[in-house]
Amino acid sequence: MTGGIFILSGAGLSAESGLKTFRAEDGLWEDHRVEDVATPEAFARDPELVQTFYNMRRAQAAQASPNAAHQALARLQADHDAPVYLVTQNVDDLLERGGARNVIHMHGALKDALCATCGHRWPAPMVMDVKDPCPSCGAPATRPDIVWFGEIPYHMDVIQAALEDSELFVSIGTSGVVYPAAGFSQMARQLGIKTMELNLEASGGRFDEVREGLASVVVPQWVDEILGR
Ligand code: APR
Repeated sequence: MTGGIFILSGAGLSAESGLKTFRAEDGLWEDHRVEDVATPEAFARDPELVQTFYNMRRAQAAQASPNAAHQALARLQADHDAPVYLVTQNVDDLLERGGARNVIHMHGALKDALCATCGHRWPAPMVMDVKDPCPSCGAPATRPDIVWFGEIPYHMDVIQAALEDSELFVSIGTSGVVYPAAGFSQMARQLGIKTMELNLEASGGRFDEVREGLASVVVPQWVDEILGR
């Protein structure tokens, strides 16, 4: 194929790198309810808990290595004749460390800090404290640059343009329950774009084609097919 490819990835892409997915059977994320650690209300109520939680996520992500699926997507981006848009809900940087460029982090990134007062962004220290002053305005209002539940995802205009420039939509390792990302496959269908899912188990969403299996296996296989290898 010769057209643009839009890839939406989720926690399943990084699962085999040792980073836990969100919707495990016990409904807990690293022993916490999501609403206790991943909402603006949680941060207002208990900023120390939220900072500690994300400091742990940051340390875990730094210790993890990209797996074969991250590397395959980077290879696709480098070798495909048309644009490959890598839109991810993941806040780790394993795609970048696997060689990918221009990754669109719609839910933010662990490597960045955000001032809750003035909106300034800067590289996050490994261990962040809520009392750290903002380098721009000085307010002691540092937070992780993560899009929490109830907040608006980043880069939606870029994402819309990327979809319109693509002729294949591929969802990789995401349960497809969190909007607006969960609506991208429907947007793609409305644009007349072919849709595909690669997942350990089918999410149950509507796709033209679904392939089940470990990301580290099915993603490199699919990339080889696209590149004609
Ligand atoms: N290979 C492929 N897919 C996998 C693997 C694997 N090794 N392991 C798990 N999966 C799949 C699961 O089948 C599931 O569909 O990954 C998906 C993970 O789903 P979630 O845990 O719901 O993660 P995600 O879809 O990324 O969550 C979306 O929700 O909590 C918020 O903001 C957070 O970005 C996150 C968003």
